[in-house]
Amino acid sequence: MLRELSRIRRGAHLIDAAAGKASVGLVAAELLPIGALTVIERDPKRVAACRAAIGRMSRSVPVDLRESDVSGEWPTGADAVVALHACGRASDTVIDRAIESDARFLFLVPCCYGADVPFLARGLALADELGAAAHQNVRRRVATSLVDLERTLRLEAAGYEVEAHDFVGATITPHNLLLRARRTRAAKRMASAAARLAELTNGTPGADGAAMRTP
Ligand SMILES: C[S@@+](CC[C@H](N)C(=O)[O-])C[C@H]1O[C@@H](n2cnc3c(N)ncnc32)[C@H](O)[C@@H]1O
Repeated sequence: MLRELSRIRRGAHLIDAAAGKASVGLVAAELLPIGALTVIERDPKRVAACRAAIGRMSRSVPVDLRESDVSGEWPTGADAVVALHACGRASDTVIDRAIESDARFLFLVPCCYGADVPFLARGLALADELGAAAHQNVRRRVATSLVDLERTLRLEAAGYEVEAHDFVGATITPHNLLLRARRTRAAKRMASAAARLAELTNGTPGADGAAMRTP
């Protein structure tokens, strides 16, 4: 992740969302020339651990530590957002918040795909339509891949160029898909992604009516 974060500009404001103990954000603040760090984490114990770690940093970087849900208020003007293993729906909220805050980069590694993930019901319905209903394990894999496709298209429709790749081997973590999004506002890509997103959302079979934000 540090190699990824080394792409952001010197002096950048980085947000570490669903941060846990903020190992990614704090190590980045210690080793990379970022200018400010905001940490967003809802679990008080992890926030406390993060606060203790801030006290051990050798580099002097302003850290705004927020004990909050990622759906809460975000600072404006951040250059980059990182969210490593953001649980379930938190990945979707991070995408929406990064878009709203007009962040230049988002580095998102989704984690689990529970029932709270907004596109999962739709993904399962599409998997069934494709003939996966009798093959539960395959059905789930198809559906979770569709969830990540919807996330990718949502970002692209909002003006980001997205590259999805395995950032570490699957033996280190099975949740190793990195969505690297860079804001380009390329009109052609945005229009094409919006059309594909509409098709994915509203095309066949469309029976479940799963909730979906418009890009
Ligand atoms: C799997 S951990 C990953 C932590 C850290 N990013 C890392 O990779 O070490 C997910 C973290 O996200 C936090 N989290 C999950 N949903 C959240 C939400 N909606 N708002 C804020 N934090 C959330 C959890 O409390 C947990 O600390």
